Amino acid sequence: MCGIVGVTGTDRSLSILIEGLKRLEYRGYDSAGVYVNDLHGHDYLIKRPGRIANLEAALTDDINGLAGIGHTRWATHGGPSEANAHPHYSSDNRFYLVHNGVIENYAQLKKEYLGEVTFRSQTDTEVIVQLVDKFVVENNMTTEAAFLKVLRLISNDSSYAFVLMDREQPDTLFVAKNKSPLLVGLGDGYNMVGSDAMSMIKETKKFMEIGDHELVIVKPDHVDIKDFTGNDKTRNPFEVDIDANSADKGAYPYYMLKEIDEQPAVMRKLVQQYFGDSDQPQINEELLKSMAESDHIYIIGAGTSYHAGLVGSRIFERLCGVPTSVHISSEFAYEQPLLSKKPFFIFLSQSGETADSRQVLVTINENKWPSLTITNVDKSTLSREATFTELLYAGPEIAVASTKAYTAQIAVEAILAKAFGEFIGNPEAKKFDVKHQLGLVANGMQAITDSKKTLEEVAARFLSKPRNAFYIGRGIDWTVSLEAALKLKEISYVQAEGFASGELKHGTIALIENNTPVIGIITQDRTAGLTRSNLDETEARGANIITIVSRHLAQEDDTIVLPDVDQMLSPLLSVVPAQLLAYYTSLGKGLDVDKPRNLAKSVTVQ
Ligand code: M6R
Repeated sequence: MCGIVGVTGTDRSLSILIEGLKRLEYRGYDSAGVYVNDLHGHDYLIKRPGRIANLEAALTDDINGLAGIGHTRWATHGGPSEANAHPHYSSDNRFYLVHNGVIENYAQLKKEYLGEVTFRSQTDTEVIVQLVDKFVVENNMTTEAAFLKVLRLISNDSSYAFVLMDREQPDTLFVAKNKSPLLVGLGDGYNMVGSDAMSMIKETKKFMEIGDHELVIVKPDHVDIKDFTGNDKTRNPFEVDIDANSADKGAYPYYMLKEIDEQPAVMRKLVQQYFGDSDQPQINEELLKSMAESDHIYIIGAGTSYHAGLVGSRIFERLCGVPTSVHISSEFAYEQPLLSKKPFFIFLSQSGETADSRQVLVTINENKWPSLTITNVDKSTLSREATFTELLYAGPEIAVASTKAYTAQIAVEAILAKAFGEFIGNPEAKKFDVKHQLGLVANGMQAITDSKKTLEEVAARFLSKPRNAFYIGRGIDWTVSLEAALKLKEISYVQAEGFASGELKHGTIALIENNTPVIGIITQDRTAGLTRSNLDETEARGANIITIVSRHLAQEDDTIVLPDVDQMLSPLLSVVPAQLLAYYTSLGKGLDVDKPRNLAKSVTVQ
């Protein structure tokens, strides 16, 4: 959701901006733009709706600079158009600004201060850049003082990552953030800012964190950080160990297919990272002690991460005997349930940047409750701000539809539950050989990803035409049906619902008509027969039945048979055919599998 790159101090600025924007494409966007300045009075602003390729096509050889800012926009205020694309600029063409987030009080600021200004766009961002200009020109303020004054006028519930440039100090990037992600990248003789480390990874592995409500002045040879009252702050850089090539698609047509295929390797990597040569998971003892002091685990997440939490809660309750509840972060943030006396919070987030989840973490930290973030992105906002972090080691996930992060989240929850359960002496944890099970899961995933042809045929036959589809199951299979339906709807635009199969007859079965696809997930001994009966009920009303069934429960005419693993870990296998069905349905419809309409990979607004 909106990507930002900025750079100062190199004649490669334009190419660094374009490369950075391409690496942020995964976040989702509908227009792109760059501003570059050669420090000798020449500057260039180019913006285009649509893909970065449109922007690149508009770049002529004479466009170059020693500093600049770039942006990919995911529309919030005003549709995707050249006028609404960033960078936005002041009426006198002096100031240029890129922004990720939402300024909640922009209309009020516009009314109060900018009644005379003619606006070129419908965005909240343009209000900010015009306001900086007004304070500089009319109040004779320095750019830094004017920017600071504007930052103080922005309401606290707003979110922003800003990079501002002034034609009169063209080698300086004025930077600030609140809630939205932004990092400084330290180059050799030049410096950068970007929405994430990947956007700068070709240039550097050395980064510097930016805190909320800080003003950061980035010049080619140094970075100054101040708080909003003007006090200097010091900060040590940190290094990240990411391979710049790990985000490439290789020979795959789409990232999503590559990421589905990577899942067996991710399972093996997790075993290696968390067990090494030991049979016991190696988990930070301070984390286990902190969890042991709690009386209830609360798992917080959004979308697919919430679905992984639904599986995780069952694993924690079984292996640890500790009550565990799961909450959608955007709901929890504004309707906090009555909590236990000693809560422990687990945040699940692939990106570590989801604004809804971060909003919850802010409250948790205000109350000094302990927390753990399980994320794929080391040093991401949720990782930095939680008490503890455990990593998913899944490698960059680029496709908007989350696949390998979901299975990695469940695997890490299982490893943590095993470690914690044993730490507090729960016999169920001792009995559960998660290391061996994850090995079986990896092999099982491999077998499923090797049978793509069948899934492609099922998708073409049953899912290419209907407008609606249902995934059904009971218990843990129901939680997978929610994730399976999300995959199908978000990339193929089939209206798909995940349903507790016993609930169908209480209303939803009215939607079943001739050829409605109903996909049953059956992996649990206790509920297999019941789900089969529910499938029969829909078939009797004209539905086309597809089944995803564990081998020991399979019957002759089942569609997809899964290798057997411990039933608690069956979601790690049953989700894979669902991911592939979604992929092939989207592909068959000629849709952009990796970048579905209206969606962003990293949802940094509430
Ligand atoms: O980065 P997060 O895990 O916090 O993201 C949460 C959701 O935005 C994400 O899972 C979303 O639902 C995906 N598009 C699902 O495929």
